[in-house]
Amino acid sequence: EKGGYDYFMLKEIAEQPKAVADTLLGRIDASGSLTLDEVRIPPGVLREVDKVVIVACGTAFHAGLIAKYAIEHWTRIPCEVELASEFRYRDPILDPQTLVIAISQSGETMDTLMALRHAREQGSKVLAICNTNGSTIPRESDAVLYTHAGPEVAVASTKAFLTQLVACYLVALYLGQVRGTKWGDEIRDVIRDLSHISGAVERVLETMEPVRELARTLADKKTVLFLGRHVGYPVALEGALKLKELAYMHAEGFAAGELKHGPIALIEEDLPVVVVVPSPRGRSVIHDKIVSNIQEIRARGARTIVIAEEGDEAVVPYADHLVRIPATPTLLQPLVATVPLQVFACELATARGNEVDQPRNLAKSVTVE
Ligand code: M6R
Repeated sequence: EKGGYDYFMLKEIAEQPKAVADTLLGRIDASGSLTLDEVRIPPGVLREVDKVVIVACGTAFHAGLIAKYAIEHWTRIPCEVELASEFRYRDPILDPQTLVIAISQSGETMDTLMALRHAREQGSKVLAICNTNGSTIPRESDAVLYTHAGPEVAVASTKAFLTQLVACYLVALYLGQVRGTKWGDEIRDVIRDLSHISGAVERVLETMEPVRELARTLADKKTVLFLGRHVGYPVALEGALKLKELAYMHAEGFAAGELKHGPIALIEEDLPVVVVVPSPRGRSVIHDKIVSNIQEIRARGARTIVIAEEGDEAVVPYADHLVRIPATPTLLQPLVATVPLQVFACELATARGNEVDQPRNLAKSVTVE
């Protein structure tokens, strides 16, 4: 049932282009607009929403962090993202105009379930983004947008994450479409780009052999750091989480701009640092800043592993290892930038002799608080 792969995780990584395409299927109509009839919250209610709050755990939380950039940009609605386990204990401000989005692969995560129950008690509407049909979280929500990743068996989430991102983009774009924002043209362009994005994920997968080779050479390292900026920051957090849970290595993700506020003190000779570089188009200011961050850490001896768009030449002089990803619109980049980090963690786990599909101490769904 592993379809010829050694591990479910490898199979699930390989299934990502299809999972992404399946999650888009039937949700974009012939005119290039979104048709999310399944989100049963009436457009009138969505137009009244004045705040979005996303609750989730682990990898799903990272999808939520990325969703915030998309939602705030395309809808101009303020969006907060919070770890579900923290949410209800701090007396959050919620009312009927708050749209709460609960993201969960399994639909059974107790922390997320308790957070959404709390939100509904305060009168907020809850939209679940979930991969498991009929599970508790969608059953207890006002509406659900299913991700169509298919069953995810490996404890480390991969294809579910990419489809959670797709679902979050769909919600952000749909809210933008329903409410009508000044980004109307951009929204139409992005919907078109999204409909082709599974091909880009496929292309990344075809070029992963050097990433595997590199991972094998790092098997005896103690620490790997991950840096990113803008949507690359949650991608860095996700890369670090994958490495912790699979390779049992110390891994941390930082916002690259925070380096000088502390983490740069960690940089030492030959420390592997993975940097997720945003597109040089679009938000080019951030791009230039991250290139100087790479320069700074390399000058202090770091071994730089740079994930950058095809055609981005500015990073070449400072990359000890360069991983190319296809050019995408800025906000969609996590769909391609995360894939090398999944492959990297999986290969390092294998090289260290760890159980890939069932890491120690972890369960696929965490049904206790
Ligand atoms: O089923 P859920 O999406 O609610 O699970 C949330 C987390 O437990 C999950 O993403 C966890 O962090 C994964 N093992 C990460 O790979």
